[in-house]
Amino acid sequence: MSTKREVILSGIRPTGRLHYGNYFCAITHILRLQEQDAQCYYFVADYHALTTITDRREIYRDTLNMLRTYVACGLDPIRSTIYRQSDLPCTAELALLLGMITNIGHLERGTTYKDKMLKLEADPRAEGNPLSYGLLGYPVLMAADILIVRADVVPVGDDQRQHVEMACDIAEKFNSRFGEALHVPRAVGREAMRLPGLDGSSKMGKSDNNTLDLLDNPQTVLQKIKGVETSTDPRPLETESNEPDAIVPQMPGGVGVLYRLLHLLAPQDVYLDFVGQYRAGGKFYGKLKAAVAEHVSKFNAPVIERYNNPAFNDDYIEDFLRENAKKVTPVALETVERCREAIGIGHSLYRA
Ligand code: TYM
Repeated sequence: MSTKREVILSGIRPTGRLHYGNYFCAITHILRLQEQDAQCYYFVADYHALTTITDRREIYRDTLNMLRTYVACGLDPIRSTIYRQSDLPCTAELALLLGMITNIGHLERGTTYKDKMLKLEADPRAEGNPLSYGLLGYPVLMAADILIVRADVVPVGDDQRQHVEMACDIAEKFNSRFGEALHVPRAVGREAMRLPGLDGSSKMGKSDNNTLDLLDNPQTVLQKIKGVETSTDPRPLETESNEPDAIVPQMPGGVGVLYRLLHLLAPQDVYLDFVGQYRAGGKFYGKLKAAVAEHVSKFNAPVIERYNNPAFNDDYIEDFLRENAKKVTPVALETVERCREAIGIGHSLYRA
């Protein structure tokens, strides 16, 4: 009896370089699922990037560089379908259809929109066009990305959890109004993580200038790690547990980030040794920073090497983008066609 392959989808905006939050909270899951014979779709969200990037050369370059970083991290454009969002323009049509059943009030509660509103209130001269229609509709386009390939699982970090929930809500609403045209994905699991920023703030994020990147060379790594604020007095830990989820929230900002990174990268005995030192008190942050920087640089080295491999040049990337666009397009067009029929518009334009 043949069982259906699980369909996995995730995406990333091509703004700046891939950081540790992206990698450890999203890409690692895709890499694991790629090994398990799942049908993996992974794309670079260049439409979404238009809410912040306005330079046409920058968007093209950043998109290709992000795709090159994917490959350097181990995403395989043959086993996984890796594509560029704008190579699937029918996503925009699906977003339009989904937008017809999405309440504005629902969108105004979206985290991305609310965050931008707060930033704009704090700095009204902030660059870009933060209150665009595109920004408000960001979760609808994201729902279209997810629903168009009929995804079962959407591995994302905790910061995107709400957007995936909105996609599920939109699909359910569509189905209840027009019939079962859309596949409803599973909600994001509890394992979804949020990596704090190097400045000790709650989230590592490209626009907050607080990231550690997979392409950072040892010098940059050292500089960034040295700059992490550790001058606040250590607080005694209330928990007996050695798990980062239990101890990191009890540590002052920057120190917590260093421990989280050490837990992700270093052998367990090294991590536990530093937890013991924290419990014992004393001044050891210089040693801790040196250990974190060393493990980060060790982790980055093979990624940087593959990234610079001349075989992964623009032609190689454009070639697999073309091939993968051909693979994902029929799947996507079928979903759009189902929705058109369910709603009752147009002729079957997409039918051969
Ligand atoms: P983006 O580009 O902000 O981030 C890409 C992925 O990295 C995760 N992430 C984090 N996880 C934990 N801690 C952090 N500090 C952190 N920073 C980033 C994000 O949760 C995400 O998984 N809207 C999406 C892109 C997108 C998408 C989609 C994702 C567009 N359509 C459909 C999934 C499905 C975004 O801005 O991700």
